Amino acid sequence: MAPNGYVIDLTGGCIVVTGGNRGIGLEISKAVARAGASVAIIYKASQDAEDVAAQIEERYGVKAQAYKCDVGDASLVTKTVSKIETELGPISGLVANAGITIQKPALELNTQDFQQIYNVNVLGVFNVAKSVAKVWIDRQFKGGSIVVTSSMSSRIYNRKGPHDPITQVFYNSSKAAVTNLCKGLAAEWAKHSIRVNAIAPGYVDTDIVEVDPKVRQYINDTVPVGRFAKPEEITGQTILLLSEYASYMTGGEYLIDG
Ligand SMILES: NC(=O)c1ccc[n+]([C@@H]2O[C@H](COP(=O)([O-])OP(=O)(O)OC[C@H]3O[C@@H](n4cnc5c(N)ncnc54)[C@H](OP(=O)(O)O)[C@@H]3O)[C@@H](O)[C@H]2O)c1
Repeated sequence: MAPNGYVIDLTGGCIVVTGGNRGIGLEISKAVARAGASVAIIYKASQDAEDVAAQIEERYGVKAQAYKCDVGDASLVTKTVSKIETELGPISGLVANAGITIQKPALELNTQDFQQIYNVNVLGVFNVAKSVAKVWIDRQFKGGSIVVTSSMSSRIYNRKGPHDPITQVFYNSSKAAVTNLCKGLAAEWAKHSIRVNAIAPGYVDTDIVEVDPKVRQYINDTVPVGRFAKPEEITGQTILLLSEYASYMTGGEYLIDG
């Protein structure tokens, strides 16, 4: 008998989560595991990523493993995705979530800052999406879903006070770029039954947002729900997009911004 209510069951799948060891990505890794899928966490440098994966395995009774890989390094990404496919796969979904920011006034930003941010937030997403899509197309898998963590900053400039922008033009423009990248990939890969969507969180309490109490108060006062999101509040839309319930959703950007 079918269970009551809506149940998202990803059992038998394997979801790759970049940046899945902390912040928003960690909550996505846990949510995916709770839904029954194996989790392959890609991280860059954190010392505790393997322990995090082991804890997920133990708590949710699924396979979970951490893979150290800079998403900006295309050939390493290809090798890592192939390793994941062999060790934990078959891969059924990807959450390209790893991202970084640099806050500096525009007059102080330079080429190195640009390359650092775009290498992770745009090229890094592309590298992982391309490698995973290639694996799916080669094994003629239908129904793969890619979810990219963009940001509401793809559409706005952020403020820390009246007429006082948060100075991160490379970050915001990288998110606009990656949201449009999703649209293009969705169009190209629809014929392979691969869906590609972006989520666009608002302010979420993680390491990426360091704000002094006055700025936090200002932001809280400008957000209708009056507070930052907890990282776990970003997981529902992500799990939905990974699931078959979202079979007619592709190329979209979904705000989760309170
Ligand atoms: N927090 C917010 O308010 C907010 C709002 C909107 C969108 N977002 C987006 O949400 C995503 C996650 O943000 P977060 O707040 O959870 O950030 P976070 O806590 O700073 O975590 C960033 C994650 O990305 C990984 N990472 C960074 N560079 C990488 C690279 N080159 N290769 C592989 N992994 C890399 C980190 O791995 P290590 O641990 O190994 O360093 C870490 O797991 C980002 O794309 C961010 O732009 C955040």
